[in-house]
Amino acid sequence: MIELSIAEIAAAIGGELVDGTDGKRRLPPVAVQTDSRLSTAGSIFFALRGETTDGHLFAHTAVENGATLIVAERALDIDVAQIIVNDGVTALQALARAVVARVRENGQLKVLAVTGSNGKTTTKNMLRTILEREGETVAPKGSFNNDVGAPITMLGVTNSSKYLVVEMGADGIGDITRLQSIVMPDVGIVLMVGLAHIGKFGDAATTALAKSEMVTALPPQSTAVLNYDDGRVRAMAPQTEATVNFFGLDSHSDVWADEIEASARGTAFDLHVADEVVPVQLRILGEHHVTNALAAITAARALGIPVQRSAVALESIDRAERWRMELLEAPGGITVINDAYNASPDSMAAALKTLVQVVGPENRSVAVLGEIAELGEYANEEHDRIGRLIVRLNVQKLIVVGHAARHIHNAAGLEGSWDGESVLVDNVEEAYAVLREELRGGDVVLVKSSNSAGLRHLGDRIAGVTS
Ligand SMILES: Nc1ncnc2c1ncn2[C@@H]1O[C@H](COP(=O)(O)OP(=O)(O)OP(=O)(O)O)[C@@H](O)[C@H]1O
Ligand SMILES: [Mg+2]
Repeated sequence: MIELSIAEIAAAIGGELVDGTDGKRRLPPVAVQTDSRLSTAGSIFFALRGETTDGHLFAHTAVENGATLIVAERALDIDVAQIIVNDGVTALQALARAVVARVRENGQLKVLAVTGSNGKTTTKNMLRTILEREGETVAPKGSFNNDVGAPITMLGVTNSSKYLVVEMGADGIGDITRLQSIVMPDVGIVLMVGLAHIGKFGDAATTALAKSEMVTALPPQSTAVLNYDDGRVRAMAPQTEATVNFFGLDSHSDVWADEIEASARGTAFDLHVADEVVPVQLRILGEHHVTNALAAITAARALGIPVQRSAVALESIDRAERWRMELLEAPGGITVINDAYNASPDSMAAALKTLVQVVGPENRSVAVLGEIAELGEYANEEHDRIGRLIVRLNVQKLIVVGHAARHIHNAAGLEGSWDGESVLVDNVEEAYAVLREELRGGDVVLVKSSNSAGLRHLGDRIAGVTS
């Protein structure tokens, strides 16, 4: 963060300084934490009330670890400066708003924000790789994309930052508006509207409305980067005053791709911009990541970065992120694709397509699948669809893990004319036992489920990797 006085922080977050604190004291450029275990010398600790615990209970640990300012919703019996606010999360966002505004005034900061049902973290990582080569870049750790994670990321900017990349997730209407209004991006990206977390949204139209908040409020001098291939995203173009740049596989897009070839080595494609054609070889596995690469290239281009430079940067990335389409070589000539960080119907379908694309003609494709969570009333239907897709793709062996995912197994079994076979097991241990028995050299094994199903460690275990 930038250097501010305690009084400036109190004013920015609308809080009250307690106990005769000397508001003039300036805090050095410090970190802001909401997890007391991560507090460091001179840091600011925001005590937040979470679903499972209350940060106020850990303020003393934060102080032990070096925190010198506490922001809390009630005065605490602690001997450091405190600012009392009505709501900790709102205060955190207000501080992020003030810090980003000040850095913008002082310098050259450009803000890019990314949303969409799938691919946000991957695109964010791609953007980070492109932008880091151009100037100082701040981007979130992992998938920090909510009301707390996004402002924590934003607070990382300093006067020498050139780019800030923010991942914005949505569980409902208003979520993106809230995050977006904190920074008001120069470039707002919408990747796709899919079925991820559909249980919370209710239907795809509501999901589309929630994601469209990324562009509806953008000012005219900004750029909206939209996926032309996704009808619901394309339809957002008339809803923004910003300049629209489309990306996609459709040649009507400003930046588009064709000649896509997916293999175990990655994905090759031709990138088209105006009359230029740039051949690109991504090492990241899965054809679906071409869309994310196009989004990142288009967003960077909106800030004046030539597409060739972006393409070269993207070619240096070897995986999307740990546990996302991660290619692991297991002992005995077995290949594991570990994509069990999370799952939605779209990402599971994309992963299965990649599995059959990368397996050689002599070798077997094996899918180990667990539940796709957060589907609400769509759960049975969507698991069923995955089961039928597996048959259509002719995946040769299917292991379905856990009762919640049983519809995948049932649907595959009911779909006739399939040479493959399906096994339903109760838990990860049983799945491991079956795999140990069954796997042989040359097999390519996809492991995919929602995080809650716990399959990612299974993927690592088969591959002999420690998590
Ligand atoms: N365009 C796409 N179509 C389908 N699946 C995709 C696409 N892009 C990424 N995925 C898959 O979606 C999964 C999640 O990817 P990623 O972590 O980048 O998404 P995210 O939007 O950040 O997810 P979260 O909502 O959990 O933060 C991975 O399995 C990835 O391979
Ligand atoms: Mg993410």
